[in-house]
Amino acid sequence: MSKKLVLAYSGGLDTSVAIHWLAERDYEVLALAIDLGEAKDLDAVMSRALKHGATQAFTVDARDLFLRHFVWPTLQAGALYEGRYPLATALGRPLIAKLMVDLAREEGATAVAHGCTGKGNDQVRFDVATGALAPDLEVVAPVREWGMTREEEIEYARQHGVEVPATVESPYSTDVNLWGRSIEAGVLEDPWQEPPADVFAWTAAPEGAPAKASYVEIKFERGIPVGLDGEELEPVELVSRLNAIGGEHGVGRIDMVENRLVGIKSREIYEAPAAVILTTAHEALESVALSKDVARFKAKVAAEWADLTYNGLWFSALRQDLAAFVASTQEHVSGEVRLKLLRGALQVVGRKAPDSLYRLELATYGSGDAFDQGAAKGFIHLWGLPLRTQARVQGLLGDGAQNSLLPPDMKRLRAAAEPPADAPETTDSIG
Ligand code: ARG
Repeated sequence: MSKKLVLAYSGGLDTSVAIHWLAERDYEVLALAIDLGEAKDLDAVMSRALKHGATQAFTVDARDLFLRHFVWPTLQAGALYEGRYPLATALGRPLIAKLMVDLAREEGATAVAHGCTGKGNDQVRFDVATGALAPDLEVVAPVREWGMTREEEIEYARQHGVEVPATVESPYSTDVNLWGRSIEAGVLEDPWQEPPADVFAWTAAPEGAPAKASYVEIKFERGIPVGLDGEELEPVELVSRLNAIGGEHGVGRIDMVENRLVGIKSREIYEAPAAVILTTAHEALESVALSKDVARFKAKVAAEWADLTYNGLWFSALRQDLAAFVASTQEHVSGEVRLKLLRGALQVVGRKAPDSLYRLELATYGSGDAFDQGAAKGFIHLWGLPLRTQARVQGLLGDGAQNSLLPPDMKRLRAAAEPPADAPETTDSIG
C-alpha cells in the first residue's frame, strides 16, 4: 500500500518533478501550496499539482498568520541575522512545516516532503521544525536525494510530461514572501560583482528613484505596527503598502555575504522594503521607550533570536523563552515614528511615545531645566574615584605597560602631567 505524503508544493520545476519522483517510490502525494504573499495564482498551482499526479491539492492563505505569529515577534525582538538580514525566508519555513504537519495529521499521512537542496539552510529548517512538531513523521527531500544535475532534471521532466517553466532560465534562485525577497546564485556567486539590474523586482534603483522624498508615519502598539499615516491597517495591508512605498524609493536593498549553517559563506541579495522600514522605525521607538539597560540586554537577545531562527530552531524552548522576555519589554513600546525615504536612503526624522523616557525637562538647555547640575559634581567625584586611586597608588601614567595609554607623541608631555615631587599630597576621603 502506498504511503500518504504531504508535499510543500510551489508549482515550480523542482516540486513538480518531485511529485513524479515520489509517485515512482510508491508515495501518494498530497500537494500543499501555501501563500505567504508571493502573489502567485494558487488555483493554477493547484491544478498543476493535480496534473502532475498529486491525488489531492490544498491551498492555505497563511499571510496573516505569518505576519502575526512569526514576523511581528521577530520585529519586536529586533532580530536581524548577522546584523542585516531580516530573515524573511528563515521565518517562512517553520510556518510551512507547521502547516504540512497539520495537514498530515488531518489526512493521516505518515510523511512530508519539501523541495530543498542539500546545500542550503532551508532543508535544515524544514527537517528540524517537522521533527520538533511531529517526531514520528518521515521527512523526504527528493531534490537532496535524487542526485540529478539541472540538465538531467529537465530531461526527466520532459520524459514525464512536466512542462519546464520559462523561469527555469532565470539565472537566480529566489524565495519570496511578504517580509522579503531572497536572491542567490548566478553571477551573484562572485561577491565582487555588482548585482545586475535584473536581480531586483521590488525596488527601484536608487539613482532612478524620485528626486522628491516621501514621508511615512508608523504607529506602534506594544511594539507591533498598527497604523500608517494615520490609518489603522491590518498586517498584510500595512506590509504590502510599505513594500510598495519603500520599493518606489529604492529602500530595502541588502547585499551581503552571510554564514550559512552548513558551513559555507554565501553571497545574498535581499529586497525587503517593509522589513527595513519597520525594523528601523521600531528601533527608533525603542530608543525613547526602553531603559538603557533593557535596550542593551535586548540587543543580545536579538542576536540569539536571529541565530535560532536562521538555524532552524524556531520551535525551540529557548526561542519560546526569549519570546516571553521580548514581549515583556514591549509594554511601553507604543507611539509613532516618522521616516523619510529618498533615493535608497531611509532616515528616522521623528519619534514620540506617550510613555517616552526622553524627558524634555531633563534634556533641555533652555528654560524649565529640572536637571540638578549641582548634583553632577558629587556624582563625578565618585565616578572618577577608582581612576584617581589607581593613579595615586600605581601611577597610571608611569613607566611600563601603562605608557600605552598615552599616544607616543604625548609622552614627552608626561612630565607636565605629573605633580612636582614636593607638591603636597592630596587624598580622597574614604568612599
Ligand atoms: N540565505 C537566505 C536564508 O538562508 C535565503 C535563502 C533563499 N532560499 C532560496 N531557495 N533561494 O534564509
